[in-house]
Amino acid sequence: MRKVGTIIDNLRKGEKAPDRHENPYLKEALSLSEYLLTQEELKANYLNLFKNKEKPIVLEIGCYMGKNVIEFALQNPQFNILGIDITYKRVVKAARKLKRLAVDNGKIAICDGKALINDILPENALHGVCVFFPDPWPKDRHEKNRLLKKEFIEGLYQKLAPNGFFWFKTDHEPYYLETNKIVLDCGFKADDVQEGEPLTQPRNFLGGPYETAFQKLFTEKGVPFYQRVYLKK
Ligand SMILES: C[S@@+](CC[C@H](N)C(=O)[O-])C[C@H]1O[C@@H](n2cnc3c(N)ncnc32)[C@H](O)[C@@H]1O
Repeated sequence: MRKVGTIIDNLRKGEKAPDRHENPYLKEALSLSEYLLTQEELKANYLNLFKNKEKPIVLEIGCYMGKNVIEFALQNPQFNILGIDITYKRVVKAARKLKRLAVDNGKIAICDGKALINDILPENALHGVCVFFPDPWPKDRHEKNRLLKKEFIEGLYQKLAPNGFFWFKTDHEPYYLETNKIVLDCGFKADDVQEGEPLTQPRNFLGGPYETAFQKLFTEKGVPFYQRVYLKK
């Protein structure tokens, strides 16, 4: 299992960061413990993450600097929103914003998506999963690094509650077509407006429209992107 966030774990236990890791984001992480968890903390406290534990959880994998997590949380108080990413700088910036706005239904974790889905979450744990513009690894020899592989999507299906959603966006056409096929083969059904006409967000996601940081960049450059919402049958 890939483990991320161990430097924060060590700092929170009172250990010193290795010299090359002396950076301001690590120090700031110590003051954000209410909003920023490590992978180890997420595993230990999964059932007690949020103030209102009964609310369904929506997960964003690869949440970058937290734009969506914050917008989803503020506009959907009926859900708890968990965003994960793997870099210290991004998760600290995201958690900083949640703290500033005192968002009580949003949390950030430095955590690997595969570890969370395969090793941490119990079955039926999630109401929704968002994966927006995951790294496409366009070269053939790197394709194995993609997040959305068959085994991962099968795990994701198990971790969603019945009727839970998976919302996927990408600018990379081959990644979209391959993922779309795997997702449907795994048992999801596409939640389209009409046959083949994708929704632009899950039906019960109020507020929006939501635009991710990468979506904004692509849109400004005139690069088209693909998105679809799928439901667990
Ligand atoms: C291309 S960026 C897209 C960011 C954001 N979703 C958006 O649409 O603006 C991909 C993000 O996924 C994160 N990421 C890559 N692999 C990951 C993994 N295994 N688990 C969690 N996050 C990951 C990266 O650190 C990066 O922030």
